[in-house]
Formats: sequence, structure tokens, C-alpha cells
Amino acid sequence: MHSSHGARVATWDIWVRLTHWTVAGIVLWNLFGPTDQIHRVLGYCAAGLVASRLVWGVIGTRPARFSSWWPTRAQLVAYLRSLAAGQALHHASHNPLGALMAAALWFLIAALALSGFVMRLDAFWGEEWPQTVHYWLSVALQGCVVVHIVAAVAMSVWTRENLIAAMITGRKRRRA
Ligand code: HEM
Ligand code: HEM
Repeated sequence: MHSSHGARVATWDIWVRLTHWTVAGIVLWNLFGPTDQIHRVLGYCAAGLVASRLVWGVIGTRPARFSSWWPTRAQLVAYLRSLAAGQALHHASHNPLGALMAAALWFLIAALALSGFVMRLDAFWGEEWPQTVHYWLSVALQGCVVVHIVAAVAMSVWTRENLIAAMITGRKRRRA
């Protein structure tokens, strides 16, 4: 079959895509919505989905596995050099910078659930710091989300590989 768009290869399996868009929805809701019971239940759900994604990083499909994308320092340096040279290296799974961002986003979501749990414990009743920690973690997450979305759009335009569509359909263009 001939297609001007070229062959596409399965990249993101259904679990990566489902957890991504569900977690994204919860994070946006929890960042900008009311901090009620729903906020707390959804927050724990997001943390649970992140935990399942970490397990999937060991037993999941190849592109989902940490072994496919966890960046080494050498890969990071090579990737930064390729960006500086205006010729971004192609990575079948996450590129090394995207991988660092994924790890940061997961860490912040898990830490938000933990701090949210701690601030509701009787032992910390009347203490301010768990709220303060939760607040600053949410600020950090908000900043990372902005960078994440801008980077996903920018890299899609620059490399002419629609990464956002790939996170929906699961397919990326095949490269030589
Ligand atoms: C708002 C909260 C969001 C969070 C917390 C979030 C988090 C993440 C995480 C953790 C990953 C790694 C996925 C994995 O390996 O399982 C990822 C990948 C990705 N996200 Fe998001 N995301 C958010 C919103 C968005 C939005 C709105 C878009 C679209 C504009 C988007 C586009 C992507 C793309 C394209 C990838 C794959 C990048 C690649 O090809 O390496 N994300 N996101
Ligand atoms: C995706 C995870 C989460 C995000 C992004 C998030 C984000 C936020 C944000 C933006 C606020 C408002 C902060 C402020 O303006 O002071 C907040 C407040 C709050 N969050 Fe979360 N949260 C998450 C998870 C949780 C969880 C799991 C719990 C508890 C079980 C929780 C409990 C609370 C409570 C009780 C408040 C009100 C704090 C106060 O009265 O100062 N959150 N959260």
C-alpha cells in the first residue's frame, strides 16, 4: 500500500495512552478545580495510575519500558548536542529530555498524593507545613505541565512528527 504519510509503527500501547489522558485530565481538574472530596479521591486515583504505569515500565510493551527510554548521561549529552546543531536525533520512544519530564511529572503527582495524605492525618492537625508543601508541589507541577505541553507542540512542529496524535492513535512514523 502506498501512502504519502509513510508507514506507521505501533508505539504507545493502550495502557500508556489511557493512563496519560486520564492522569492529564485529573491533574488539570485538581490544579484548577475545587479542593473537595472529589479532589482527594481523584488525586489518589492519579497516583494509583502512575504506580500502575511504573509497573508497566517493567512488564509492558517495549516502547513503554524504562529499558527503552530511561536516559543515560551520554544519551542526554548526545541529544542536547543534536538540538544545538538543529538536527534533533530521532528516538522511537521518549527522547531523553521528554523522558526526564515524564519522570518529573510522575514524581510530582506521587508527592502531591503523599503530601495530601499527610496533611489530612490527625497527627498533623494544626500544622501548616504539609499544606505549604502540597501548594509548592502543585506550583511545580503546573510549571512542568506548561513546559511539557509547549515542548510537545514545538517538537511536533519542528520534527514534523505529530507526537500528540501519536499519544492518541498510538502510532508513530517509521524511520530509516
Ligand atoms: C496536563 C497534564 C499532563 C500530564 C501530567 C502529562 C504527563 C505525561 C507523562 C507522564 C508522559 C509520559 C508518558 C508515558 O511514558 O507513559 C507524557 C507524554 C506525552 N504527553 Fe503529556 N501530560 C499532560 C498533558 C498533556 C497534553 C495536554 C498534551 C498534548 C498537547 C500532552 C502530550 C504528550 C505527548 C505528545 C507525550 C509523548 C511524548 C513523546 O512522544 O515522547 N500531554 N505526558
Ligand atoms: C494530582 C494530584 C493533586 C494535585 C495536582 C493537587 C493540587 C492542589 C492544589 C492546586 C490545591 C490548592 C492549593 C492552594 O491554593 O492552597 C490543593 C489543595 C488541597 N489538596 Fe490537593 N492536589 C492533588 C492531590 C491531592 C490529594 C491526593 C489530596 C488528599 C487526599 C489532596 C488534598 C488537598 C486538600 C485538603 C487541599 C486544601 C488545602 C488547604 O486547605 O490549604 N490533594 N491541591
